[in-house]
Amino acid sequence: MLILGVDTSCDDTAASLLSAEDGNIEIVSNVVSSQTAVHSKYGGIVPELASRKHLEMIWPVVEEAMSGIGLDKLDAFSVCHGPGLIGSLLVGCSFAKAVCYSTGTPLVSVNHLEGHVLSAFLENPIPEFPFLSLIVSGGHTCLYRVEGFMKYTELGRTRDDAAGEAYDKVSKLLGLGYPGGMQIERLAKEGNPKAIKFPRAYLPGTLDFSFSGLKTAVKLALGSQGLSPAGGMATRDIAASFQSSVIDVLVRKAEWAIKKTRIKRLALSGGVASNSALRERMKEMAEDKEVELYAPRPALCTDNAAMIAFAGYRHFLANDIAGLDLNPKAHLPL
Ligand code: KG4
Ligand code: ZN
Repeated sequence: MLILGVDTSCDDTAASLLSAEDGNIEIVSNVVSSQTAVHSKYGGIVPELASRKHLEMIWPVVEEAMSGIGLDKLDAFSVCHGPGLIGSLLVGCSFAKAVCYSTGTPLVSVNHLEGHVLSAFLENPIPEFPFLSLIVSGGHTCLYRVEGFMKYTELGRTRDDAAGEAYDKVSKLLGLGYPGGMQIERLAKEGNPKAIKFPRAYLPGTLDFSFSGLKTAVKLALGSQGLSPAGGMATRDIAASFQSSVIDVLVRKAEWAIKKTRIKRLALSGGVASNSALRERMKEMAEDKEVELYAPRPALCTDNAAMIAFAGYRHFLANDIAGLDLNPKAHLPL
């Protein structure tokens, strides 16, 4: 069967065509149109501009993803209906409903976080159940216990900023621009991660996260040292020290979750999970603790619609079909 996935939850217009047969899947196309150029001059996402850009891009992106196949050939249309920016979600949902109404294709709705969790199934080897899933993105930092498809239990979440949000805010403080993750990763490679001892919010006794104190600590360090933004040696050291604090926390919390649940399978996803230093440290921890680690390639960690198509496929198999009265939701727990 052929499933089209569409995600317009934030600032990327994404569409992906998935072919699935007896549980085996093939990603036929995975198209992502980034809006970075639109938002970078504002230092962050401007929601109104994001929805307008989605409106402009949804047709061309879907057309490219369909690779010459007619929309009437689809067996299911899977759309992300939340959480995210409401105006952006509305574009994807309205588009999906219009296509399903005119072609009679079954509509399936998917939570963006479920997409991230199930991105572990987009590449071989795939995890067996149960497994732990750590989502580290710009909007979310959370840990789930996954017992099966559609069986998710939240073990912890950020109490304030998401890890990617901290990267973006620190990048702005350092004058490196938006989005910040890749810029900080690049600069951190040249810096000393031990130069500044930034705090690590381990929050003992819980699997929750907190990154806003770290961002404030970076701000204070910048103030006291009177650094000029971008490029200097000290900026590199700040980037490296900041990143080392984020990674220490993520790795230790993952270790705690493994110990607490005794589940020795861990899947990573979200934009921050494309960070090579984080992947390397998680790999070392996994080897040390004899844990199976599932980290899809970076293009499947960051926002994409292949994960939405796959999650939609599982809903379709479970006969969980959405109505054409589907409405997007800015806040949507998994
Ligand atoms: O998953 P994603 O594409 O979108 C959300 O669902 O939020 O994640 C985007 C976030 C941004 O905050 C971005 O700065 C961060 O992921 N990011 C990174 C890297 N690439 C993207 N953070 C650290 N290192 C990276 N290489
Ligand atoms: Zn995401």
